[in-house]
This record gives sequence, structure tokens and C-alpha cells, in this order.
Amino acid sequence: MNNYLTELLNAEHNKIEFSCGKPMLDNYLYKQANQDMKRKLSACFILNDSQTNRIKGYYTLSNNSIPLELVTDNFRKKLPPSYSSIPTTLLGRLAIDSRFQGMKLGKLLLIDALKRSYDTSKNIGSFAVVVDPLDAEAKTFYYKYGFIELIDSKKMFLPMNTIKQLFE
Ligand SMILES: CC(C)(COP(=O)(O)OP(=O)(O)OC[C@H]1O[C@@H](n2cnc3c(N)ncnc32)[C@H](O)[C@@H]1OP(=O)(O)O)[C@@H](O)C(=O)NCCC(=O)NCCS
Repeated sequence: MNNYLTELLNAEHNKIEFSCGKPMLDNYLYKQANQDMKRKLSACFILNDSQTNRIKGYYTLSNNSIPLELVTDNFRKKLPPSYSSIPTTLLGRLAIDSRFQGMKLGKLLLIDALKRSYDTSKNIGSFAVVVDPLDAEAKTFYYKYGFIELIDSKKMFLPMNTIKQLFE
């Protein structure tokens, strides 16, 4: 059984009509997402409206790592110093089509991405989900869900042990 709201991007999806207000995120879907999947650089997951075959939103996930020194003190203390970099999961992009924004789909898609990341972390270690917000608005969105800023970086993270509490 599929426990997720999303499915992997495939040739049936109507990519070209997707528009979220951020051209970089639209263009990624039109031009690069398929290539990245073929090269195994990232996986792109689609929330599709099956009745209209319209993409409501998408996100991407990849393996990633962050230098130990970027993790805030309270978390770093609990990590072995022998790890100079920490394995993480990158939620590289998250976007909702403008016609569907403000309907809690961003929140739903974020939870879907966290669930996939948590499930995967049971087989492949990952200390946290990392995001790289495009701008201050996106940052506010992630703050809302408990993401913490990494030191000296635009990136933010949410520890996998915090995410675990959502699903167990
Ligand atoms: C940011 C985005 C994913 C949010 O999706 P959405 O479906 O419109 O948001 P939701 O309806 O799920 O909102 C969930 C909560 O986040 C808040 N929120 C939504 N967009 C926000 C934003 N841009 N900044 C701050 N908070 C935001 C909402 O007010 C809501 O809070 P509430 O539950 O207290 O009412 C969407 O607006 C989007 O795709 N924007 C363009 C792309 C982008 O900036 N992506 C960010 C990752 S790089």
C-alpha cells in the first residue's frame, strides 16, 4: 500500500502548466527534474490532481551531508566528534501551484516529505532533514514547522528524532 500523497514524477504528468510564482522552481520541474532523476541526483515527488491531471505541488529529496561545525551547540554536543560531516536528507525544493496555495497543501506536502525521509532513515542513516529556503518568506514557512537555522548558512534543519515523534 502506498502511504504517501505523492508519486514519483513520470511522463504522464502535465509539467508545463505548473506555476508557483517562483520561476526557478517552475523551470526546475520543466527542464531539470527528469534529468536529475535519470542521473540519480534527486527524486522528484508529485502531488497530482488525477481528475484534471494538473500538478498541485512537488518536492525533491536527495542524500546530503552537513559539516559538523554548522550544527548548533546543543545538538553538536550529542554527536561524536569523529564525524566531521553528518549524513542528512536534503529537501531541495518544495512548491505548490499558485492556484492551490493557501489551502494547506504546502503543509501536507512537507509532512509527506518528512515521512518519506523518516522511513528511509530506518535503512540509511540520516541525522536531519535539511532545507535551503529561497527567500525570507520560505524561511518563515519552515520556521513555523520547527526548522532550526544552521550556523553561518542560509540552510535550516529539523532533527530526524524530532520528525520521528510525528510518526510513532
Ligand atoms: C511556501 C509554499 C510551499 C506554502 O504552501 P501553501 O500551500 O501556500 O501553504 P499552506 O496553505 O500549507 O500554509 C501552511 C502554513 O504556512 C503559512 N505560510 C504559507 N506560505 C507562507 C509563506 N510564504 N511564508 C510564511 N508562511 C507561510 C500559512 O499561513 C499556514 O499557516 P497557518 O497554518 O498558521 O495558517 C507555497 O506558497 C509555495 O510554493 N511558494 C512558492 C515556492 C516557495 O517559496 N517554496 C519554498 C521552498 S524553497
